[in-house]
Amino acid sequence: MQLDVMTLFPHWFDWFREQRHVKNAMEDGHEVRTFNPRDHSDMSARQVDDTPFGGGAGMVLRVDVMEKALRGVYAQDPVELRKERRVIALTPGGRVLDDAFVDELAAEEQGITLLCGRYEGFDERIVQHFCSDTLSIGRYVLAGGELAAMVVCDAVLRKLPGSLGHANSAVEESFSVALDGDPEYPHYTRPAEYRGWKVPDVLLSGHHAEIETWRRARSRERGDGGSRLGR
Ligand code: ADE
Repeated sequence: MQLDVMTLFPHWFDWFREQRHVKNAMEDGHEVRTFNPRDHSDMSARQVDDTPFGGGAGMVLRVDVMEKALRGVYAQDPVELRKERRVIALTPGGRVLDDAFVDELAAEEQGITLLCGRYEGFDERIVQHFCSDTLSIGRYVLAGGELAAMVVCDAVLRKLPGSLGHANSAVEESFSVALDGDPEYPHYTRPAEYRGWKVPDVLLSGHHAEIETWRRARSRERGDGGSRLGR
């Protein structure tokens, strides 16, 4: 799986690539590549953005620079590229990321390309003509798409075989099909009692079927809205 990120801040991803689960995925042949649109700008001072037509605050990423950057990386007209590859604009108003969206992206064998906006975001023609999707990690505004791109890469990579320690970890986890889209059940480990707080007996019983039933029920309960915790 090739995870490509177009970003004005590629060095942000150095830290991400250093993380154990990401390294494991990369050792398995998956890639997290970064490209800087600035390297493809032929404007003075390698300009990538400009003031918005109609006025207003902030700067907007230029469509011509993004085209050059995408052509530079994929040697193809980006209008054609998006027919073959998921090219995704990261933007607060995009399709909100959830487990089903992550599954969809993890199934893209060709790989995916994430475009990080900065400042006021993209010239709309980038989204309309070069992108297959828009994606938001939530209805709040970040300073740019970089953290959103890392969220996407992290969520996608952990779905791929080999990047998790335990083969079943990604199957029966929160919001997965195996749990009918419910959050995951609670986990406990040693000590079996701490400050009088006991681990549920069933988990110590060794009865796998009962444990399974208990877990499914707790998962469903959480899916019914969760509960407010005391403070
Ligand atoms: N860029 C800025 N805010 C964002 C968000 N919430 N999701 C994705 N990309 C963004």
